[in-house]
Amino acid sequence: MKIAVFVSGGGTNLQNIIDAVEDGTLPNVEISMVMADRDCYAIERSLDKDIRTYVLDRKTFSEDAEHNLEEEEIDLIVLAGFLTILSSEFTEKWGSKMINIHPSLLPRFGGKGMYGAKVHKAVLESGDKESGASVHYVTAGVDEGQIICQESFAIEESDEVADLQRKVAEVESKIFIEAIKQISEA
Ligand code: GRF
Repeated sequence: MKIAVFVSGGGTNLQNIIDAVEDGTLPNVEISMVMADRDCYAIERSLDKDIRTYVLDRKTFSEDAEHNLEEEEIDLIVLAGFLTILSSEFTEKWGSKMINIHPSLLPRFGGKGMYGAKVHKAVLESGDKESGASVHYVTAGVDEGQIICQESFAIEESDEVADLQRKVAEVESKIFIEAIKQISEA
């Protein structure tokens, strides 16, 4: 299965996928390309492994990405900390072949503007006793697609944003690989 990984940030999730491909956890998966919507550290991780890497303009991302995806016959698009909202045409076309990871227990704390530290702040303010991460299919409604994998953890009284970030990263490293594996074996 050929995958394209879309990134905007540090690329922790991209690195987890690279490692899982390299150590044989994802034997059916090949990372064919990485596409970024801005200058970010994830690009370095990608180039370091000689993966075809594109940096595209945020405003025309959906149209510009299309050509590369079709040419390479990509089977699955993986949004790994990707922050641009894709066009509805793009989502309609690729939605059944596109997954995203989100740092909360969707449908709690999802939607436009809910990303990064903002999610964790909202979780702490809500008084919820648990949080987690979700992997889901992508639809035009932001963070609303069918959930593939989800895992939770308990929130301690003393937890701050940084603690939730650390716990979420740990959960994400497991469920993202699980979801990709599941799809690659279907
Ligand atoms: C994660 O919290 C993920 O859920 C969110 O971006 C963060 C990770 O970014 N969408 P990265 O993989 O380190 O770039």
